Amino acid sequence: MTQTQPEPAFTPGQFRERFRIPDGGAGQPGIYLCGNSLGAQPKAAVDAVDAELERWARLGVAGHFDGPTAWTEYHELLTAPLARLCGAKETEVVATGTLTANLHQMLISFYRPRGKRRRILVEKGSFPSDRYAVASQVHLHGLDPDHDVVELAPRRDGLLHEEDLEDYLERYGDQVALVLWPGVQYATGQVFDTARICRAAAKAGAAVGLDLAHAVGNVPLNLHDDGPDFAVWCSYKYLNAGPGAIAGLFVHERHARFDGPRLAGWWGQDVQTRFQMRPRFRPEAGAAGWQLSTLPILATAPLLASLQLFEDAGGIPALRQASLDLSGHLAHLLHERLDGEIDIITPLEPHRRGCQLSLRLDAGESAGRRLFERLEAHGVTCDWRAPDIIRVAPAPLYNDYEDVERFVELTGRLLAADRR
Ligand SMILES: Cc1ncc(COP(=O)(O)O)c(C=O)c1O
Repeated sequence: MTQTQPEPAFTPGQFRERFRIPDGGAGQPGIYLCGNSLGAQPKAAVDAVDAELERWARLGVAGHFDGPTAWTEYHELLTAPLARLCGAKETEVVATGTLTANLHQMLISFYRPRGKRRRILVEKGSFPSDRYAVASQVHLHGLDPDHDVVELAPRRDGLLHEEDLEDYLERYGDQVALVLWPGVQYATGQVFDTARICRAAAKAGAAVGLDLAHAVGNVPLNLHDDGPDFAVWCSYKYLNAGPGAIAGLFVHERHARFDGPRLAGWWGQDVQTRFQMRPRFRPEAGAAGWQLSTLPILATAPLLASLQLFEDAGGIPALRQASLDLSGHLAHLLHERLDGEIDIITPLEPHRRGCQLSLRLDAGESAGRRLFERLEAHGVTCDWRAPDIIRVAPAPLYNDYEDVERFVELTGRLLAADRR
Protein backbone atom coordinates (compact mmCIF):
# COMPACT_ATOMS: atom_id res chain seq x y z
CA MET A 1 0.00 0.00 0.00
CA THR A 2 1.37 3.42 -0.85
CA GLN A 3 1.02 6.20 1.64
CA THR A 4 0.17 9.60 0.25
CA GLN A 5 2.04 12.47 1.84
CA PRO A 6 -0.14 15.47 2.71
CA GLU A 7 0.90 18.59 0.81
CA PRO A 8 2.76 21.01 3.08
CA ALA A 9 0.34 23.81 3.96
CA PHE A 10 1.07 27.45 3.33
CA THR A 11 -1.44 30.16 4.15
CA PRO A 12 -1.71 32.97 1.58
CA GLY A 13 0.28 35.94 2.81
CA GLN A 14 2.04 33.91 5.51
CA PHE A 15 5.38 35.60 4.71
CA ARG A 16 3.99 39.11 4.31
CA GLU A 17 6.09 40.33 7.24
CA ARG A 18 9.20 39.21 5.41
CA PHE A 19 8.48 41.70 2.59
CA ARG A 20 8.27 45.45 2.24
CA ILE A 21 4.98 46.22 0.53
CA PRO A 22 4.69 49.69 -1.05
CA ASP A 23 2.12 51.77 0.80
CA GLY A 24 -0.92 53.14 -0.95
CA GLY A 25 0.05 56.83 -0.69
CA ALA A 26 -1.55 59.40 1.64
CA GLY A 27 -1.03 57.12 4.62
CA GLN A 28 -3.28 54.35 3.29
CA PRO A 29 -2.03 50.76 3.28
CA GLY A 30 -1.21 49.59 -0.22
CA ILE A 31 -2.77 46.68 -2.06
CA TYR A 32 0.13 45.31 -4.07
CA LEU A 33 -1.10 42.89 -6.73
CA CYS A 34 1.67 43.22 -9.28
CA GLY A 35 3.89 40.17 -8.81
CA ASN A 36 3.38 39.46 -12.52
CA SER A 37 5.44 42.57 -13.27
CA LEU A 38 7.73 43.30 -10.33
CA GLY A 39 7.55 41.21 -7.18
CA ALA A 40 7.66 42.97 -3.80
CA GLN A 41 10.98 43.35 -1.99
CA PRO A 42 12.02 40.61 0.43
CA LYS A 43 13.50 42.27 3.52
CA ALA A 44 16.33 39.74 3.36
CA ALA A 45 17.34 41.14 -0.05
CA VAL A 46 18.70 44.23 1.66
CA ASP A 47 20.88 42.14 4.00
CA ALA A 48 22.08 39.99 1.12
CA VAL A 49 23.17 43.02 -0.92
CA ASP A 50 24.62 44.75 2.14
CA ALA A 51 26.68 41.67 2.92
CA GLU A 52 28.27 41.73 -0.53
CA LEU A 53 28.87 45.49 -0.40
CA GLU A 54 30.56 44.95 2.93
CA ARG A 55 32.69 42.12 1.54
CA TRP A 56 33.68 44.34 -1.37
CA ALA A 57 34.72 47.12 1.04
CA ARG A 58 36.61 44.73 3.31
CA LEU A 59 38.15 42.34 0.82
CA GLY A 60 38.31 44.20 -2.47
CA VAL A 61 39.21 41.87 -5.28
CA ALA A 62 39.78 38.97 -2.87
CA GLY A 63 36.00 38.81 -2.57
CA HIS A 64 36.03 36.91 -5.85
CA PHE A 65 37.72 33.96 -4.17
CA ASP A 66 37.25 34.19 -0.40
CA GLY A 67 34.48 32.89 1.77
CA PRO A 68 31.25 30.98 1.34
CA THR A 69 29.86 33.56 -1.10
CA ALA A 70 33.01 33.90 -3.24
CA TRP A 71 31.85 35.80 -6.32
CA THR A 72 33.45 33.48 -8.86
CA GLU A 73 31.26 30.66 -7.58
CA TYR A 74 28.25 32.67 -6.44
CA HIS A 75 25.96 31.35 -9.16
CA GLU A 76 26.39 27.86 -7.75
CA LEU A 77 24.55 28.93 -4.59
CA LEU A 78 21.46 29.47 -6.72
CA THR A 79 21.57 26.27 -8.71
CA ALA A 80 19.89 23.84 -6.32
CA PRO A 81 16.90 26.05 -5.39
CA LEU A 82 16.44 27.10 -9.03
CA ALA A 83 16.54 23.46 -10.13
CA ARG A 84 13.82 22.65 -7.58
CA LEU A 85 11.61 25.49 -8.85
CA CYS A 86 12.09 24.32 -12.43
CA GLY A 87 11.82 20.58 -11.92
CA ALA A 88 15.28 20.28 -13.42
CA LYS A 89 18.63 18.72 -12.64
CA GLU A 90 21.19 21.08 -11.19
CA THR A 91 23.37 20.81 -14.27
CA GLU A 92 20.43 21.95 -16.41
CA VAL A 93 19.96 25.42 -14.89
CA VAL A 94 22.07 28.49 -14.34
CA ALA A 95 21.42 32.00 -13.07
CA THR A 96 22.87 34.28 -15.73
CA GLY A 97 22.25 37.23 -17.99
CA THR A 98 18.90 38.80 -18.72
CA LEU A 99 15.85 37.27 -20.30
CA THR A 100 15.99 38.67 -23.81
CA ALA A 101 19.77 38.28 -24.02
CA ASN A 102 19.47 34.68 -22.82
CA LEU A 103 16.77 34.05 -25.39
CA HIS A 104 19.11 35.25 -28.11
CA GLN A 105 21.84 32.98 -26.75
CA MET A 106 19.49 30.01 -26.88
CA LEU A 107 18.22 30.84 -30.37
CA ILE A 108 21.78 31.01 -31.66
CA SER A 109 22.26 27.45 -30.42
CA PHE A 110 18.87 25.88 -31.05
CA TYR A 111 17.35 27.67 -34.03
CA ARG A 112 19.04 25.84 -36.88
CA PRO A 113 17.02 26.40 -40.05
CA ARG A 114 17.78 23.93 -42.81
CA GLY A 115 16.13 23.47 -46.21
CA LYS A 116 12.41 23.99 -45.91
CA ARG A 117 12.49 23.54 -42.11
CA ARG A 118 13.06 27.13 -41.14
CA ARG A 119 9.99 28.53 -39.41
CA ILE A 120 9.72 29.66 -35.80
CA LEU A 121 6.26 29.09 -34.36
CA VAL A 122 5.13 31.51 -31.63
CA GLU A 123 1.79 32.44 -30.13
CA LYS A 124 -0.05 35.41 -31.63
CA GLY A 125 0.23 38.26 -29.17
CA SER A 126 3.56 37.01 -27.82
CA PHE A 127 5.57 39.40 -25.67
CA PRO A 128 7.13 42.03 -27.96
CA SER A 129 10.70 41.39 -26.86
CA ASP A 130 10.34 37.69 -27.77
CA ARG A 131 8.81 38.64 -31.08
CA TYR A 132 11.67 41.04 -31.83
CA ALA A 133 14.21 38.40 -30.80
CA VAL A 134 12.83 35.66 -33.05
CA ALA A 135 12.38 38.02 -36.00
CA SER A 136 15.94 39.28 -35.68
CA GLN A 137 17.30 35.73 -35.45
CA VAL A 138 15.40 34.71 -38.57
CA HIS A 139 16.89 37.75 -40.23
CA LEU A 140 20.39 36.81 -39.05
CA HIS A 141 20.02 33.59 -41.03
CA GLY A 142 19.21 35.61 -44.15
CA LEU A 143 15.53 34.62 -43.99
CA ASP A 144 12.38 36.69 -44.00
CA PRO A 145 10.63 37.12 -40.64
CA ASP A 146 7.36 37.98 -42.41
CA HIS A 147 7.40 34.50 -43.83
CA ASP A 148 9.29 32.45 -41.31
CA VAL A 149 7.90 33.69 -38.02
CA VAL A 150 4.49 32.07 -37.79
CA GLU A 151 1.93 33.08 -35.18
CA LEU A 152 -0.65 30.65 -33.93
CA ALA A 153 -3.89 32.51 -33.36
CA PRO A 154 -6.17 32.19 -30.34
CA ARG A 155 -9.71 30.90 -30.84
CA ARG A 156 -12.83 33.00 -30.48
CA ASP A 157 -12.60 32.51 -26.71
CA GLY A 158 -9.40 34.57 -26.87
CA LEU A 159 -7.33 31.60 -25.67
CA LEU A 160 -4.67 29.50 -27.29
CA HIS A 161 -5.38 25.80 -27.45
CA GLU A 162 -2.67 23.16 -27.25
CA GLU A 163 -4.72 21.12 -29.68
CA ASP A 164 -4.37 23.84 -32.34
CA LEU A 165 -0.62 23.80 -31.92
CA GLU A 166 -0.66 20.03 -32.34
CA ASP A 167 -2.79 20.36 -35.48
CA TYR A 168 -0.47 22.97 -36.93
CA LEU A 169 2.55 20.79 -36.28
CA GLU A 170 0.82 17.73 -37.72
CA ARG A 171 0.23 19.66 -40.93
CA TYR A 172 3.26 21.89 -41.28
CA GLY A 173 5.72 20.43 -38.77
CA ASP A 174 8.25 19.60 -41.47
CA GLN A 175 8.63 23.36 -42.06
CA VAL A 176 9.09 24.28 -38.39
CA ALA A 177 12.61 24.56 -37.02
CA LEU A 178 11.65 25.81 -33.56
CA VAL A 179 8.61 26.35 -31.36
CA LEU A 180 8.92 29.14 -28.79
CA TRP A 181 6.09 29.00 -26.27
CA PRO A 182 5.30 30.69 -22.96
CA GLY A 183 4.69 28.74 -19.77
CA VAL A 184 2.08 31.38 -18.89
CA GLN A 185 0.83 33.89 -21.47
CA TYR A 186 1.68 37.36 -20.22
CA ALA A 187 -1.53 39.14 -21.26
CA THR A 188 -4.20 36.53 -20.55
CA GLY A 189 -2.51 34.69 -17.68
CA GLN A 190 -3.30 31.37 -19.39
CA VAL A 191 -1.14 28.47 -18.21
CA PHE A 192 -0.07 25.92 -20.82
CA ASP A 193 0.51 22.21 -20.72
CA THR A 194 4.20 22.47 -21.51
CA ALA A 195 4.67 18.69 -21.56
CA ARG A 196 2.12 18.45 -24.34
CA ILE A 197 3.72 21.29 -26.30
CA CYS A 198 7.16 19.72 -25.99
CA ARG A 199 5.81 16.34 -27.14
CA ALA A 200 4.13 17.86 -30.18
CA ALA A 201 7.28 19.75 -31.17
CA ALA A 202 9.48 16.69 -30.70
CA LYS A 203 7.10 14.58 -32.78
CA ALA A 204 7.36 17.15 -35.57
CA GLY A 205 11.17 17.11 -35.35
CA ALA A 206 11.29 20.75 -34.24
CA ALA A 207 13.34 22.20 -31.39
CA VAL A 208 11.33 23.76 -28.57
CA GLY A 209 12.07 26.59 -26.15
CA LEU A 210 9.96 27.99 -23.34
CA ASP A 211 9.70 31.55 -22.07
CA LEU A 212 8.96 31.10 -18.38
CA ALA A 213 8.97 34.78 -17.38
CA HIS A 214 5.45 34.43 -15.96
CA ALA A 215 5.72 30.82 -14.91
CA VAL A 216 8.79 30.47 -12.72
CA GLY A 217 7.94 30.87 -9.05
CA ASN A 218 4.27 30.84 -10.03
CA VAL A 219 3.27 27.39 -11.28
CA PRO A 220 4.79 23.90 -10.99
CA LEU A 221 7.42 23.16 -13.62
CA ASN A 222 8.88 19.82 -14.68
CA LEU A 223 11.38 20.89 -17.25
CA HIS A 224 13.55 17.82 -17.19
CA ASP A 225 10.65 15.46 -17.81
CA ASP A 226 8.80 17.78 -20.20
CA GLY A 227 11.98 17.88 -22.24
CA PRO A 228 12.19 21.31 -23.93
CA ASP A 229 15.57 21.97 -25.51
CA PHE A 230 15.83 25.19 -23.53
CA ALA A 231 13.92 27.59 -21.32
CA VAL A 232 14.58 31.17 -20.23
CA TRP A 233 13.11 33.38 -17.53
CA CYS A 234 13.58 36.58 -15.56
CA SER A 235 13.67 36.81 -11.77
CA TYR A 236 11.99 40.13 -11.10
CA LYS A 237 8.39 38.90 -11.26
CA TYR A 238 7.33 36.00 -9.03
CA LEU A 239 10.92 35.40 -7.92
CA ASN A 240 11.01 38.85 -6.26
CA ALA A 241 14.67 39.47 -7.05
CA GLY A 242 14.32 43.15 -7.95
CA PRO A 243 14.34 45.27 -11.10
CA GLY A 244 16.71 43.96 -13.75
CA ALA A 245 17.83 41.10 -11.48
CA ILE A 246 19.91 38.25 -12.80
CA ALA A 247 17.81 35.99 -15.04
CA GLY A 248 18.16 32.27 -15.70
CA LEU A 249 18.21 29.59 -18.32
CA PHE A 250 17.65 25.86 -18.65
CA VAL A 251 19.29 23.59 -21.21
CA HIS A 252 18.15 20.00 -21.25
CA GLU A 253 20.62 17.37 -20.12
CA ARG A 254 20.67 15.80 -23.57
CA HIS A 255 22.59 18.90 -24.71
CA ALA A 256 25.06 18.81 -21.81
CA ARG A 257 27.95 18.27 -24.23
CA PHE A 258 26.49 20.52 -26.92
CA ASP A 259 28.98 21.15 -29.71
CA GLY A 260 26.81 23.24 -32.02
CA PRO A 261 27.00 27.00 -32.43
CA ARG A 262 26.92 29.14 -29.36
CA LEU A 263 27.98 32.59 -28.28
CA ALA A 264 30.86 32.07 -25.90
CA GLY A 265 32.30 34.06 -23.02
CA TRP A 266 34.85 33.31 -20.34
CA TRP A 267 32.26 32.61 -17.61
CA GLY A 268 31.08 29.65 -19.70
CA GLN A 269 34.59 28.21 -19.88
CA ASP A 270 35.24 24.93 -18.09
CA VAL A 271 35.65 25.93 -14.48
CA GLN A 272 38.95 24.04 -14.07
CA THR A 273 40.62 26.13 -16.75
CA ARG A 274 38.58 29.35 -16.66
CA PHE A 275 41.34 31.42 -15.13
CA GLN A 276 44.22 29.87 -17.02
CA MET A 277 43.53 32.43 -19.75
CA ARG A 278 43.79 29.97 -22.62
CA PRO A 279 42.70 31.09 -26.07
CA ARG A 280 40.57 28.01 -26.84
CA PHE A 281 37.01 27.92 -25.52
CA ARG A 282 36.05 24.67 -23.80
CA PRO A 283 32.58 25.04 -22.39
CA GLU A 284 31.55 23.90 -18.97
CA ALA A 285 29.16 20.95 -19.32
CA GLY A 286 25.46 21.72 -19.07
CA ALA A 287 23.65 25.04 -18.78
CA ALA A 288 26.66 26.69 -17.08
CA GLY A 289 28.47 26.57 -20.43
CA TRP A 290 26.17 29.29 -21.77
CA GLN A 291 27.26 31.87 -19.20
CA LEU A 292 29.06 34.81 -20.75
CA SER A 293 30.24 37.36 -18.22
CA THR A 294 31.23 37.90 -14.64
CA LEU A 295 28.10 37.56 -12.53
CA PRO A 296 26.57 40.93 -11.47
CA ILE A 297 26.65 40.10 -7.77
CA LEU A 298 24.58 43.07 -6.60
CA ALA A 299 21.80 42.04 -9.00
CA THR A 300 22.09 38.42 -7.91
CA ALA A 301 22.22 38.62 -4.12
CA PRO A 302 18.48 39.51 -3.84
CA LEU A 303 17.63 36.34 -5.78
CA LEU A 304 19.60 34.25 -3.31
CA ALA A 305 17.61 35.82 -0.47
CA SER A 306 14.32 35.36 -2.28
CA LEU A 307 14.93 31.73 -3.20
CA GLN A 308 15.41 31.02 0.50
CA LEU A 309 11.83 32.23 1.06
CA PHE A 310 10.57 29.71 -1.49
CA GLU A 311 12.51 27.00 0.32
CA ASP A 312 11.17 28.08 3.71
CA ALA A 313 7.62 28.11 2.36
CA GLY A 314 7.85 24.47 1.31
CA GLY A 315 8.49 25.19 -2.35
CA ILE A 316 6.06 25.40 -5.21
CA PRO A 317 3.80 22.51 -4.11
CA ALA A 318 2.85 24.43 -0.96
CA LEU A 319 2.68 27.84 -2.64
CA ARG A 320 0.69 26.56 -5.58
CA GLN A 321 -2.20 25.48 -3.39
CA ALA A 322 -2.18 28.84 -1.61
CA SER A 323 -2.06 30.60 -4.97
CA LEU A 324 -5.00 28.65 -6.37
CA ASP A 325 -7.01 29.44 -3.23
CA LEU A 326 -6.17 33.13 -3.53
CA SER A 327 -6.90 33.58 -7.23
CA GLY A 328 -9.94 31.31 -6.83
CA HIS A 329 -11.23 33.61 -4.09
CA LEU A 330 -10.62 36.63 -6.33
CA ALA A 331 -12.50 35.02 -9.22
CA HIS A 332 -15.35 34.02 -6.91
CA LEU A 333 -15.75 37.53 -5.50
CA LEU A 334 -15.59 39.12 -8.95
CA HIS A 335 -18.33 36.80 -10.20
CA GLU A 336 -20.44 37.31 -7.13
CA ARG A 337 -20.21 41.10 -7.02
CA LEU A 338 -19.28 42.33 -10.48
CA ASP A 339 -20.70 39.84 -12.93
CA GLY A 340 -21.87 41.66 -16.06
CA GLU A 341 -19.35 44.44 -15.48
CA ILE A 342 -16.01 42.67 -15.41
CA ASP A 343 -14.97 39.75 -17.55
CA ILE A 344 -12.19 37.42 -16.45
CA ILE A 345 -10.21 36.54 -19.58
CA THR A 346 -7.99 34.01 -17.82
CA PRO A 347 -9.37 30.48 -18.02
CA LEU A 348 -10.51 29.49 -14.56
CA GLU A 349 -9.83 25.75 -14.51
CA PRO A 350 -7.10 25.38 -11.90
CA HIS A 351 -4.59 23.78 -14.27
CA ARG A 352 -5.00 26.69 -16.73
CA ARG A 353 -4.43 29.59 -14.34
CA GLY A 354 -1.59 30.80 -12.13
CA CYS A 355 -1.46 33.81 -9.81
CA GLN A 356 -2.64 36.28 -12.45
CA LEU A 357 -6.21 37.01 -13.47
CA SER A 358 -6.62 39.28 -16.47
CA LEU A 359 -9.71 41.45 -16.39
CA ARG A 360 -11.59 43.33 -19.07
CA LEU A 361 -14.40 45.79 -18.50
CA ASP A 362 -17.61 45.15 -20.40
CA ALA A 363 -18.03 48.94 -20.73
CA GLY A 364 -14.95 49.04 -22.98
CA GLU A 365 -11.41 50.22 -23.23
CA SER A 366 -11.67 53.76 -21.90
CA ALA A 367 -13.80 52.67 -18.94
CA GLY A 368 -11.12 50.03 -18.21
CA ARG A 369 -8.34 52.56 -18.34
CA ARG A 370 -10.32 54.91 -16.11
CA LEU A 371 -10.94 52.18 -13.55
CA PHE A 372 -7.26 51.24 -13.58
CA GLU A 373 -6.19 54.84 -12.97
CA ARG A 374 -8.67 55.26 -10.14
CA LEU A 375 -7.56 52.01 -8.55
CA GLU A 376 -4.00 53.32 -8.65
CA ALA A 377 -5.08 56.59 -7.07
CA HIS A 378 -6.68 54.56 -4.25
CA GLY A 379 -3.51 52.67 -3.41
CA VAL A 380 -3.88 49.58 -5.59
CA THR A 381 -0.89 48.45 -7.62
CA CYS A 382 -1.91 46.21 -10.49
CA ASP A 383 -1.12 46.83 -14.15
CA TRP A 384 -2.56 47.85 -17.45
CA ARG A 385 -1.79 46.12 -20.73
CA ALA A 386 -2.95 47.90 -23.86
CA PRO A 387 -5.46 47.86 -25.34
CA ASP A 388 -7.86 46.90 -22.55
CA ILE A 389 -6.52 44.49 -19.94
CA ILE A 390 -6.09 44.99 -16.20
CA ARG A 391 -3.76 42.35 -14.80
CA VAL A 392 -4.14 41.46 -11.14
CA ALA A 393 -1.76 38.95 -9.62
CA PRO A 394 -1.98 38.05 -5.94
CA ALA A 395 1.28 36.32 -4.99
CA PRO A 396 0.83 33.88 -2.11
CA LEU A 397 4.17 34.66 -0.44
CA TYR A 398 2.96 38.14 0.52
CA ASN A 399 -0.67 38.62 -0.59
CA ASP A 400 -3.54 37.44 1.59
CA TYR A 401 -7.31 37.09 1.30
CA GLU A 402 -7.77 40.58 2.69
CA ASP A 403 -5.83 42.13 -0.23
CA VAL A 404 -8.14 40.37 -2.65
CA GLU A 405 -11.27 41.35 -0.73
CA ARG A 406 -10.22 44.98 -0.46
CA PHE A 407 -9.45 45.02 -4.18
CA VAL A 408 -12.90 43.71 -5.15
CA GLU A 409 -14.68 45.93 -2.65
CA LEU A 410 -12.87 49.04 -3.93
CA THR A 411 -13.40 48.08 -7.58
CA GLY A 412 -17.12 47.64 -6.89
CA ARG A 413 -17.29 51.02 -5.18
CA LEU A 414 -15.47 52.83 -8.01
CA LEU A 415 -17.68 51.25 -10.67
CA ALA A 416 -20.84 52.06 -8.67
CA ALA A 417 -19.71 55.68 -8.30
CA ASP A 418 -19.31 55.86 -12.08
CA ARG A 419 -22.84 54.60 -12.63
CA ARG A 420 -24.35 57.29 -10.46
C1 LIG B 1 7.02 37.14 -21.43
C2 LIG B 1 8.18 38.08 -21.39
N1 LIG B 1 9.20 37.90 -22.25
C3 LIG B 1 10.25 38.74 -22.27
C4 LIG B 1 10.31 39.82 -21.41
C5 LIG B 1 11.49 40.75 -21.49
O1 LIG B 1 12.30 40.63 -20.37
P1 LIG B 1 13.69 41.41 -20.23
O2 LIG B 1 13.39 42.87 -20.35
O3 LIG B 1 14.12 41.09 -18.82
O4 LIG B 1 14.62 40.93 -21.27
C6 LIG B 1 9.29 40.03 -20.49
C7 LIG B 1 9.32 41.17 -19.55
O5 LIG B 1 8.43 41.45 -18.79
C8 LIG B 1 8.18 39.14 -20.48
O6 LIG B 1 7.14 39.32 -19.65
